[in-house]
Amino acid sequence: MIEASGPAAMPNSPEARDKAYLVHGLTNLRQHLDRGPLIIESGRGVWVRDSQGREFLEGMSGLWCVSLGYGDKRLVEAASRQMEKLAYYHLTNHRSHGPAIELAEKLIAMAPVPMSHVWFASTGSEANDCAARLAWYYWHAKGEPQRRKFIAHRRSYHGNTIATASLSGAGYLHEEFGLPLPGFLHVECPDFYVGALDGENEKAFTQRLLESLEALIVAESPDTIAAFFTEPVLSSAGIVVPPEHYMAGLQTLLRKYGILLIADEVVTGFGRTGEMFGSTTAGLVPDMIVCAKGITSAYFPLSALLINERVYQAMLEQSDRLALFGLTMTYSGHPVGAAVAREAIRIYEDDGIVAHSRAMEAVLHERLAHNLAGSRIVGQIRGRGLLAGVQLVESSKPKRFFEPALKVGPRIAAAAEERGLFIRAIGDIIAICPPLIITGDEIETLAHRLALAVADVEATL
Ligand SMILES: Cc1ncc(COP(=O)(O)O)c(C=O)c1O
Repeated sequence: MIEASGPAAMPNSPEARDKAYLVHGLTNLRQHLDRGPLIIESGRGVWVRDSQGREFLEGMSGLWCVSLGYGDKRLVEAASRQMEKLAYYHLTNHRSHGPAIELAEKLIAMAPVPMSHVWFASTGSEANDCAARLAWYYWHAKGEPQRRKFIAHRRSYHGNTIATASLSGAGYLHEEFGLPLPGFLHVECPDFYVGALDGENEKAFTQRLLESLEALIVAESPDTIAAFFTEPVLSSAGIVVPPEHYMAGLQTLLRKYGILLIADEVVTGFGRTGEMFGSTTAGLVPDMIVCAKGITSAYFPLSALLINERVYQAMLEQSDRLALFGLTMTYSGHPVGAAVAREAIRIYEDDGIVAHSRAMEAVLHERLAHNLAGSRIVGQIRGRGLLAGVQLVESSKPKRFFEPALKVGPRIAAAAEERGLFIRAIGDIIAICPPLIITGDEIETLAHRLALAVADVEATL
């Protein structure tokens, strides 16, 4: 909390100027004027420090992105070297540069399924948006321009452009914005713990979801559907790991109706789930893969859309027919971002980050289970690699969820902050997504502080 007296109360303090000039996303703007900002000044490894000198364990890697932690000299030097040599060039009109070529080649070599070419953008939203546009472009090339609709999961998050907010399945992105746009359809989130009917097992739950997906496809008419977007593990939906056979069944349906599959690996890419790509973890064979965040460990905004040969061939034909390929972005393949991404990938490989993420999964789950064992309000701990979710419940047997108005999750996130830990509350699910370089001792600190925060709030219920 910002004190009412002291430097923060000064009219020209950073806190006062923040309130005077800045707009903050995912924030109650009125409350912000009362409580003011928490200003982060520096970071080292998995730790960040605020302007009052307090240290926080960064249990969310910022916004699921600083996978290699703070203060990584190799990334800083890669950026600085590239800025000195060539701070900017673009990729339009046949121009190119070494960093984009090298990164594209590497991404194609490391892709979890055969991919052909790479389109670069700056953010995850833009890359998902481009994937949607390329799906439309593909279907035009194939002589099926009526394939315009997209399907994604309820509760999912795919970004914040008009198309990707429409694609996302969370109400707060749509309310009062007049979204989703027509043709953006949503199916039930494959969250067995929350969504299973009384007495329903995982197999029956999976079958019910797939049947309702197929019913939707048929009702909408399969030849109007362009693509299905999914994350391999649904992060912002609450770290939802779909039941074992769900993704296989989903892909069988998409193949049956000729619908493209786009894997949003903005969070899951680059080791997060214990494999280099979440598509491997989930057994996905997508037509396009969207990468962002961990690709540069957030040291530079860069995203990449990996495109398979089938889609690329259609792009070739279409751009030939139309005289040029009509997608362009000033910062597509920005050389500094590309150099940082290439160095980040070297670090993932040199330092065995993916194997570390896989090994730390067991430590994280064991430490969470141990520290939270005394809590009655923990219903389930789940996840893959270093991406975990703790589902809070009023009662686990029989299963009863809290009234959302109680804001149990957000109160625990606030209590964790008081105890020097950043985690994220997605309703009553606590999301945990620490830098992949986290050590076993730091995981113990994370789990211990989280348990204290849970106990703080549990005592008030
Ligand atoms: C799964 C997923 N897709 C897309 C995005 C959008 O990425 P960006 O915020 O870089 O636009 C996010 C951001 O959190 C995300 O979590």
